[in-house]
Amino acid sequence: MNLNLKNKTAFVCGSTQGIGKASAVELAILGAKIVLIARNEASLKNVVSEINAINNLENDYIVVDFSDPAQLRATLAKYIDKNGAAHILVNNTGGPPAGKISDAKTHEFLSAFNNHLICNHILAEAVLPFMKEEKFGRIINIISTSVKQPLKGLGVSNTIRAAVANWAKTLSMEVAADGVTVNNVLPGATSTARLQGIISNKAVKNNEPIDKISQEMMNEIPAGRFAEAEEIAAAVAFLASPAAAYINGINVPVDGGRTSCL
Ligand SMILES: NC(=O)c1ccc[n+]([C@@H]2O[C@H](COP(=O)([O-])OP(=O)(O)OC[C@H]3O[C@@H](n4cnc5c(N)ncnc54)[C@H](OP(=O)(O)O)[C@@H]3O)[C@@H](O)[C@H]2O)c1
Repeated sequence: MNLNLKNKTAFVCGSTQGIGKASAVELAILGAKIVLIARNEASLKNVVSEINAINNLENDYIVVDFSDPAQLRATLAKYIDKNGAAHILVNNTGGPPAGKISDAKTHEFLSAFNNHLICNHILAEAVLPFMKEEKFGRIINIISTSVKQPLKGLGVSNTIRAAVANWAKTLSMEVAADGVTVNNVLPGATSTARLQGIISNKAVKNNEPIDKISQEMMNEIPAGRFAEAEEIAAAVAFLASPAAAYINGINVPVDGGRTSCL
């Protein structure tokens, strides 16, 4: 099985922590050069140093805030003009705030749509010409199992995730003949700052201890535990590899068996 990513470059978004950072590390282990993308420059510099020690390459970063798609487009164009594009794009950013859909305000949907779908599209537009030229491209979108089964209390997120999944499926059919695949990784509950935030909010709202909320969540997972970010990243790295060339346009839940449909 060919998992070799030497001489490949990967743009990995939302990569200062959590699933994005873990994905950058796994891709670097397979030999890819990494360009990290997120807002916090100090954290980006720290992660670049960690990754330099893994693949012995000159990895890089781009500072950008996905809440400003125009800024993303301009910054990306400037970067690619100077440094070139990427063979692998991992689309990922912070999840929309939790809350019931009946409480959601219209501007929250617009903001999540911009941060997720519009930014994914801007990134794909920027890298696709290079991927097609190279006859090798991998676009991997970190979404959520809510694509298959909406999660309670994540109204805006559930809505936007479905749009991103359908965007990806449609794109996958248009670019397959050029050697480009587009797939979605759907994490279940994964031990990251995002999950800690969701658990803490629920604990405050229900006036219950954090441990009780965590245990209740774990009871719904057949594996009986939360995922580690590295376990999500392993799926990302496999989908990015040459070995996964014929896997295209699918959703891959990595959720310990929690999603109760196929
Ligand atoms: N953890 C879970 O249990 C779980 C389950 C299902 C789905 N997911 C989804 O998977 C994705 C990643 O989750 P995670 O738990 O790894 O999240 P996380 O720990 O909150 O990390 C989010 C990353 O995105 C970056 N980011 C956040 N807002 C950004 C913005 N406006 N512009 C650019 N970068 C931004 C952050 O870096 P900076 O702060 O430096 O920008 C950080 O590196 C999210 O969409 C999440 O909802 C997570």
